[in-house]
Amino acid sequence: MATIVVLGAGAMGSALCRPLVDSGWNVRLWGTWLDDHLLDEIEAGHPHPRTNVPLAPGVKLYRSNQLAEALDGVNVAVMAVASQGVPKVTELALGGISKADAMWLTSKGFSPDERGKIQLLPDAIRRIASQHAVTLPPIVAIAGPVKANECAAGLTTCTIFGCKDEAVAKRYAAMTTTDNYAIKATDDETGVEICAPMKNIYAIALGIADGLGEATGSPHHNLKAAAFAQAVKEMSFLGQRLGAEEATAYGLAGVGDLEVTGLSGRNKVYGTRIGKGQSAKDAFKEMERLEQTVEGYPAAGLAMKLVAQHGIDVTREMPLLAAVAGIIDASVKDPEVAVALAVRPLNS
Ligand SMILES: NC(=O)c1ccc[n+]([C@@H]2O[C@H](COP(=O)([O-])OP(=O)(O)OC[C@H]3O[C@@H](n4cnc5c(N)ncnc54)[C@H](O)[C@@H]3O)[C@@H](O)[C@H]2O)c1
Repeated sequence: MATIVVLGAGAMGSALCRPLVDSGWNVRLWGTWLDDHLLDEIEAGHPHPRTNVPLAPGVKLYRSNQLAEALDGVNVAVMAVASQGVPKVTELALGGISKADAMWLTSKGFSPDERGKIQLLPDAIRRIASQHAVTLPPIVAIAGPVKANECAAGLTTCTIFGCKDEAVAKRYAAMTTTDNYAIKATDDETGVEICAPMKNIYAIALGIADGLGEATGSPHHNLKAAAFAQAVKEMSFLGQRLGAEEATAYGLAGVGDLEVTGLSGRNKVYGTRIGKGQSAKDAFKEMERLEQTVEGYPAAGLAMKLVAQHGIDVTREMPLLAAVAGIIDASVKDPEVAVALAVRPLNS
């Protein structure tokens, strides 16, 4: 039986244990120093506090000071911490990860290097490894429309595994697919890794439309749908500029994940608060107080730097990204006007 360790016992890390157990992996779950209260609840026999679903049976738990034991002899290590924790957890786990056959990555975000250059997470992980003279196994980027609570409960879920070596993605897809967890394999690591954080940013715009509806009593569905279409266009555009396939943004990683995040994800909830009149800063503080990570918040500024790095005219080519970034950094005063202007089709 192959052994896998999931690094990060938050909503997603714990949820992924469900299909892993169902598909026959021997599963370990390692909690960071921020996860003790989550592991306490699980050990007390309660559901996971973030998903409200009990952890899949048979998963062995490891505390933050047991990282070496958790990684010992694993076939696969899964990085499942929030993007801001990826560099640190990568550094701590490098020794174990280098001995595994593959590293999977469910974290979604961008990562700045020491000089402030923005990298996609797999590139950042490879850079950290090379700085420590460590050779990494292939990285499998995981994305798609996966709400942690539904995945944890074993409800039908479709996801995408992206690895530069498509045979690796296909092998793990075949090993992990269950009746309720279907996996598409692709070699478009870049496309998968661009859509994952970008959809968090765009979900904020979808939430703003919902918040405007709640605040005024008049649904803003037209605005929300136009923002959705613009978001997909911008994800596909950015992907292609960075070497991804056009189609990836139109599949599970782009359209699929944006749909699920725009229905009820934390980034959308954050946007709804803004649409209802809260300032971007106050809404973020409130989400933090509720332990609700809003990854689109830091990702928006990082994405603006990334597009600048690639010489993209953001106002013209990616106006919705510019609008959300401006709302977040308060350079834009009226979120409704900013989103509405950004989704108007250009005919020239
Ligand atoms: N929740 C979902 O439905 C879902 C689905 C797919 C992918 N993801 C991605 O998985 C990742 C984790 O999301 P989640 O929903 O489990 O979030 P969560 O807030 O429930 O858990 C966050 C995890 O990251 C760790 N973490 C947070 N900040 C850290 C830091 N500074 N240093 C080290 N570790 C840190 C926490 O200890 C915890 O293990 C995110 O990148 C998210 O985008 C989430």
